[in-house]
Amino acid sequence: MNARGYEPLLLKSLHRPEAARLAAYEESGGYRALRRALQEMTPDQVIEEVKASGLRGRGGAGFPTGMKWGFMPKTPGPKYLVLNADESEPGTFKDRLLMERDPHLVLEGFLIGCYAVGCSHGFIYIRGEFVKPYQILRRALEEAREKGYVGKKILGSGFDCEITLYRGAGAYICGEESAMIESIEGKRGMPRLRPPYVAQVGLFDRPTLEHNMETLHWVREILERGADWFASQGRNGRKGLRSFSVSGRVKKPGVHLAPAGITVKQLIDEYCGGMLEGHAFYGYLPGGASGGILPASMGDIPLDFDTLNQYGCFIGSAAIVIFSERDKASDAAKNLMKFFSEESCGQCTPCRVGTAKALKLLDSQRWDQPLLKELSQAMMDASICGLGQAAPNPVLSVMKYFPQEIG
Ligand SMILES: Cc1cc2nc3c(=O)[nH]c(=O)nc-3n(C[C@H](O)[C@H](O)[C@H](O)COP(=O)(O)O)c2cc1C
Ligand code: SF4
Repeated sequence: MNARGYEPLLLKSLHRPEAARLAAYEESGGYRALRRALQEMTPDQVIEEVKASGLRGRGGAGFPTGMKWGFMPKTPGPKYLVLNADESEPGTFKDRLLMERDPHLVLEGFLIGCYAVGCSHGFIYIRGEFVKPYQILRRALEEAREKGYVGKKILGSGFDCEITLYRGAGAYICGEESAMIESIEGKRGMPRLRPPYVAQVGLFDRPTLEHNMETLHWVREILERGADWFASQGRNGRKGLRSFSVSGRVKKPGVHLAPAGITVKQLIDEYCGGMLEGHAFYGYLPGGASGGILPASMGDIPLDFDTLNQYGCFIGSAAIVIFSERDKASDAAKNLMKFFSEESCGQCTPCRVGTAKALKLLDSQRWDQPLLKELSQAMMDASICGLGQAAPNPVLSVMKYFPQEIG
């Protein structure tokens, strides 16, 4: 238990490298929640418990997890669960930590998810550059298979589940769920037009559920500690805990486990040891590359889903980048547009041409604001996927909140 009143779950194995091994994981109660689910709960009861916890997806969109599970058709035939471990959003580094330090926790949450929605085969899609996490996860999977947690008749129940690890090739767009499905099918990773949604027609044209790694890790904890425990953890009227990847001008950057709804000022003071010596808080990215940029004067907004939308921002995967007065939000916006332009899959014109055109406009000393706004609107309205739709957010934020920087 730490000073803030809870045991730091997500990071509890951070300083115990041996915790990545099965024996140590089992010793600390590992696979107990899976056993309980298989032996004492029906799949519907698991779904109800997750719904009651208020858990929302940690991959970006924040869709309520239990509700998403409820959308999976109950028809017979193959269904798939895909675990998104592509983590390529600039500023996000929480899933990597989980994979390296607590791979069995990830596998247990994944298996519980498969049981709840009736999947007998799941895929874990790992970012290509994550060589060490891949090796650790592969070893954990072998251990789990040998011990009967993966495979046929798991723990003596009627539940069969196989897990395949799949390595990406370093494309940011493959983190988007339908592009990831295309990639696993062996095609070029490009987002699909929807509908049909992947819950109906997904991997190999079968119903598919896709989740971020942290989301499924919380499923395991919710079963272990109860939905009420999870729901009671938030701050400022929000539910649950979440991991924040904090970088920038703070004394202690890193992954911080904190209540959902905490404000950035509280995060800096209570978790990050304050600002670096000689730096004053100037602004922040509340949600990674595409979540927009806010000034320090707006540092009291609860960091969670829904609260930031009215300011043209979102929390996404909770990658918080802290700027001091030595940084320029306009430089960050330009840099991020460059990233989006390079990572655009090129499938649709508003994104492919829009990001390149925006980058050119951002190159000039004085931004052509009317033209940038018009271009941004076209990108947001007409792009196929979240990359093109959200790419203008940092630029729009700078025009709104940092006008002094752009003349
Ligand atoms: C361009 C783009 C990149 C994405 N990258 C990731 C990623 O690296 N990891 C992730 O979990 N979700 C990513 N997402 C979100 C996924 O499409 C999907 O919403 C998420 O995996 C669903 O899981 P959740 O319900 O647990 O949040 C990305 C979305 C877009 C549009
Ligand atoms: S919005 Fe961009 S990344 Fe998404 S499908 Fe269109 S071109 Fe590809």
